[in-house]
Amino acid sequence: MRRSRQVPNGRAMTRHGGARFKMALAVLACVLLLAPPAWAQSRPTAGQQVVLVTGSTSGLGEEVARRIAAGGAHVIVHGRNRERGMALVDEIERSGTGSAWFYAADFASFAQVREFGETILRDYTRLDILVNNAGFGSAPDERLLSEDGHEFRFQVNYLAPFLLTRMLMPRLLDSTPSRIINVSSLASSPIDFDDVMIENNFSGGRAYGQSKHSQVMMTFDLAEELEGTGVTVYALHPAAYMDTPMVRRLGQRPMATVDEGATALMQLVTSTEIESGQFFNGLRAGRAPNAQAYDLEARAMLKELSEDLTGLR
Ligand SMILES: NC(=O)c1ccc[n+]([C@@H]2O[C@H](COP(=O)([O-])OP(=O)(O)OC[C@H]3O[C@@H](n4cnc5c(N)ncnc54)[C@H](OP(=O)(O)O)[C@@H]3O)[C@@H](O)[C@H]2O)c1
Repeated sequence: MRRSRQVPNGRAMTRHGGARFKMALAVLACVLLLAPPAWAQSRPTAGQQVVLVTGSTSGLGEEVARRIAAGGAHVIVHGRNRERGMALVDEIERSGTGSAWFYAADFASFAQVREFGETILRDYTRLDILVNNAGFGSAPDERLLSEDGHEFRFQVNYLAPFLLTRMLMPRLLDSTPSRIINVSSLASSPIDFDDVMIENNFSGGRAYGQSKHSQVMMTFDLAEELEGTGVTVYALHPAAYMDTPMVRRLGQRPMATVDEGATALMQLVTSTEIESGQFFNGLRAGRAPNAQAYDLEARAMLKELSEDLTGLR
């Protein structure tokens, strides 16, 4: 008796349960479409451009990643701060245009840069644009060392992107026409090859300037090396003292907006007419701020040293 009474109730329950289940599935599908959960890694679709913007968890990189995604590309967001990185991914994914995913890697560690490079090679079959933007400014005015024991700005701002660029070169070469944009600066200090790690007469400004100047030297070298391959290379001073955390940490009153810097960077992202191997000051091509960038012997010394320090040789 108990069982026979339960059956009709049970059937009725199943019918209503089925409807509720379907409703719940439909609601879940809508929720997933509107807000993909953290575990649903976004992938580029066939034909979609893939752009890696290092240091896109704040400041210039964040704004440029947003603009590139708004143009429909898949943006690889990078930085150390996972929360800010995922917040940007979320914002881009919800916008309905473009797509994004975040990877954390600390450039003060070659092990992390190598792992990051290998992960990108594994996860992406194309890379149209590499924007080497991640950077650490001149404040605090202290001599810091990286995990690998090198002068901190030299490693984070220059050696790490040198290594990453070399690692990702096969993808860039497979994705031509492709490009590399090195976000450098007018702040520039020549390299003293007897004291590259700045053990003497250190200042945060000198260390930052040396690292940014090294990026320009790398740009000129790479452009020559890649001539005729379809990979173009540029260096850019985006704008002076933009309103970003880097400038605020310096205690400097901002003199430019992130919008100005982002507009200059977007010109190099979107233009198809610009000759490779140039230094841009904002929207205009010009001479590099430091004559050492044109010294072929100095460039060869820096390249050899960088290959040794990053373990590429
Ligand atoms: N601001 C200016 O006026 C100015 C002028 C000329 C050139 N620039 C250049 O423009 C670029 C962007 O600067 P910004 O002003 O936008 O600076 P920012 O707001 O401080 O952003 C720097 C970005 O670099 C990342 N980063 C810093 N240290 C890192 C490390 N050890 N490993 C991995 N990522 C690291 C940060 O990631 P997390 O926050 O997640 O750690 C952040 O995403 C830099 O290359 C800078 O030299 C800026």
